[in-house]
Amino acid sequence: MSIGAAIDRLEGAEKVTGQARYTADIPMKGVLHAVIVGSTRPHARIASIDVEAAQAAPGVIRVFTHLNTPKFGEISGLPLGQDLLPLQGDLVLYEGQPIALVVARSLETAMEAARLVKPVYREQPFETDFSTGLDRAETRPMIFFWESDSHVGDTTATWRDSEVRLKQTYRTADRHHCTLEPSATLAVWRRGKLALFDSVQGVIDARTVIAKAMRLDPGQVRVKNDFVGGGFGCKGWVWPHQLLAAMAARELGRPVKLVLTRAQTFTSHGYQPASIQTLAISARKDGQLTGIRHDSFLAGSYVGNHIEGVGIGTRSLYACSSISTTHRLVRVHRGDPTPMRAPLEGIGLVAAEIAMDELAYELRMDPLALRLRNYAEVDPSDGKPFSSKKLRECYEQGAARFGWSRRSFEPRSMRDGRDLVGYGMATALFSAFRVPSRARVSIDTQGVVLVETSTQEIGTGARTVLPQIAAEVLGIPVERVRLTWGDTDLPPAPMTAGSVTTGSAGSAVYDGALKLKQKLAAAGAKSPADYAKVLRGSNVEKLTADGVFDPPAESPKALFSFGAIFAEVRIDERIPIPRVSRIVGVYSAGRIINPKTARSQMIGGLTWGIGQALLEHSAMDHRLGRFLSKNLAGYLVPVNADVGQIDVAFIEEPDLEVNPVGARGIGELGAIGVGAAIANAVFHATGVRVRELPIRPEMLM
Ligand code: MOS
Repeated sequence: MSIGAAIDRLEGAEKVTGQARYTADIPMKGVLHAVIVGSTRPHARIASIDVEAAQAAPGVIRVFTHLNTPKFGEISGLPLGQDLLPLQGDLVLYEGQPIALVVARSLETAMEAARLVKPVYREQPFETDFSTGLDRAETRPMIFFWESDSHVGDTTATWRDSEVRLKQTYRTADRHHCTLEPSATLAVWRRGKLALFDSVQGVIDARTVIAKAMRLDPGQVRVKNDFVGGGFGCKGWVWPHQLLAAMAARELGRPVKLVLTRAQTFTSHGYQPASIQTLAISARKDGQLTGIRHDSFLAGSYVGNHIEGVGIGTRSLYACSSISTTHRLVRVHRGDPTPMRAPLEGIGLVAAEIAMDELAYELRMDPLALRLRNYAEVDPSDGKPFSSKKLRECYEQGAARFGWSRRSFEPRSMRDGRDLVGYGMATALFSAFRVPSRARVSIDTQGVVLVETSTQEIGTGARTVLPQIAAEVLGIPVERVRLTWGDTDLPPAPMTAGSVTTGSAGSAVYDGALKLKQKLAAAGAKSPADYAKVLRGSNVEKLTADGVFDPPAESPKALFSFGAIFAEVRIDERIPIPRVSRIVGVYSAGRIINPKTARSQMIGGLTWGIGQALLEHSAMDHRLGRFLSKNLAGYLVPVNADVGQIDVAFIEEPDLEVNPVGARGIGELGAIGVGAAIANAVFHATGVRVRELPIRPEMLM
C-alpha cells in the first residue's frame, strides 16, 4: 500500500546534498543580471531621475526607468499581485516601489550601479498607519466567492437580550513571509517566445499574467521551475519583478536574471496585513452561544485591493443562531498585502479564539467544555452538513495527549519552580478549497509510470505524495513512478496555495491512474505484474491516460479541515518571556496520504504559529513610511530554541465528498489556532489577558 505509507521525501537527498536546482542556480550562457532600485519615499512624484553615472559604469548594459520602459499590456486583478505595473509612470505609492532597473554583465556591477541612480522626489503627504484611518475604511469585494459582510440571524437583538456579553478588540501585526529562497526570475527570449524560470507557486497563473503584460498569447510563454524554496503566499500572485525581468530580456535580446535581495522581499511581493478585530459574543449562563459579531479592519494599499478575509472562519466555527461578520479596508501608502500562511482563518481565529477563552472565564467554564457545548454539527452559515468533521475526536484525543485534565482553572495557579505554567487551547478550521486539475499518467514497456502535471514543488511534500497516489491506484511500488512538474507545458494544475495540491492535483493523478489501469486491464493485464508484458505484446511504446479533476462549484456539504490545539507555556516571572514548552495538535483533514510529510507540514505550521504568537512583527517607521527592519535579524522567526515539544496526530476519515482521494488540505491548517492557544496559555499562566500578537515581554510586566 502506498497511500498511508510514511515514506521519506523522494527529493530529500537532492535537497540536502545541494543538488536540487532553484531558479537562481540555473546556469545560462550570456545571462545579464538585473537589480531593482526601489523608492525610498512612500508617496511622491519622481521630478527627475539621473541615471548617467549608473549607465556609464563599466559592465552596465542599460538602466530602465519610467522614461524608457515600454508600456506593458493592460492587466489588473488576480493573479496579478498589485495593479500598479512597474516603471510605467512617475507616481510612487509605496516605499520600495521600483523606480529603476539596472541591468549589467555581473550582479556586482548591477548592484553597484543601482546605488548610482539618483532620483529627485517631489514628496507627497503619506500615511502608513492604518489604525489612524478607521473612519475612512472602505467595503471591498473579497477574493474568491466570499461576501465582505455576512449576517445570519440578528446579532443586535441577541446582544441586547443575552445574559452574558463580551466585547473586546484584538490586534494582529504586519508579517512577512521570509521564504528561505528570495523570489527569483530568469527570463529567456527565443524567436519571439518567452521562457521564464520563475520561483512561483503557480506556473500557470504566472503565465497568464506575463502573457498579458507582454502582449503575447499564453502559448508563446512557458513558465518553469524545478524547486521553489518556500512560498507561503508571497510567490502566489505575480509581482513587478517578474514583469521587469521579462521586459528587460526582450528589450536587450539577452537572458536576464533578477533575484530579489532579502531587504526587497519586505516590499516587493506583499505581506500579511495588520488587523484590528472586534468580537462581540453573547451567550446564556449555561455557555450556549447566542450571538457572535466579528468586525475587522485591515491594512490595504493604493496599488491593489487585497482585503484579507479574517472573519471567514467565524462564520462556520460554532453552533450559534446569529453570526455577523464585516471586513473593512483602510488604504495606506504601502505595497499591497497578499495571503500569507495562514491567511483568512489564520488571522481571524486569533481574535475569535481568544474571545472564546475570555468568555469561558466570564462563565467560569472550562475552555474546552465551552467549545464542546457549542459544537457545530452543521455549518451555521448555511445549514449544510460538514463533508466530514472529526473535531470532537480531535478535542478528545488532543486533551488526552496533552493532559488537559491536569489543568487547574484559575490563572496563576500552576507553577514549576520559578516558572508560571499555563495551559491554553484553541480550535483550528480552514476552508477546503477545490480547484480544477489535470494530470497525464503513462506507463512504458519497462513498467515505469510517468505522472505529468504542472504543479510546483515548494516544500510541501507534493513531490512524494503525488507518486504515492499513482502507485496506490496502479498497485505498484512508488519507486516505479516518476513525476515531472513545474512546467506550463504539462497538464495544468492549480497554484500551490490554499492547501489544494494533494486534494486537487492529487485527484487528477488519481483519475489518470485509474483510467490507465482500466486501459491496461482492457489490454489484458490481470495484475500489475502483467503491465510491461501487455505493452510489449501490443507493440506500443507507452500507454497514456488523461486524468481530470473538475469539482462542482457548489457542494451540498460544507468543506473544512479542523484541528484542536493545546499549548503549554512557561514564564519566569522575573523575566516574563513566554516559552512554548509543549504543543499538541490533533487534526481532522480527511485521509492522510503520507503521515511523515503530513506530520512535517503540521510541525512547520505549529512553528509558524509560535512565530505569530511571540515573535513575528514587521515594525513600520511611520515617520519615514517604511518597514523598519528588512532582514532576519530584525524580523524574528522561531528557531529551534523557541520550539518545545511538538506532538501531532490525525483523526483520519477518507472524505470522498471533497474529492476522490479523500484528502482535505493540511498546509495552512497547521498554522491556525496556535496563536490563540498560546495567548490563552499565557493568560492562564500569568492572569494577564493579551489581545495583541505578537505577545511581547513588556505586555506581561
Ligand atoms: Mo498559501 S498563504 O495559500 O500560499
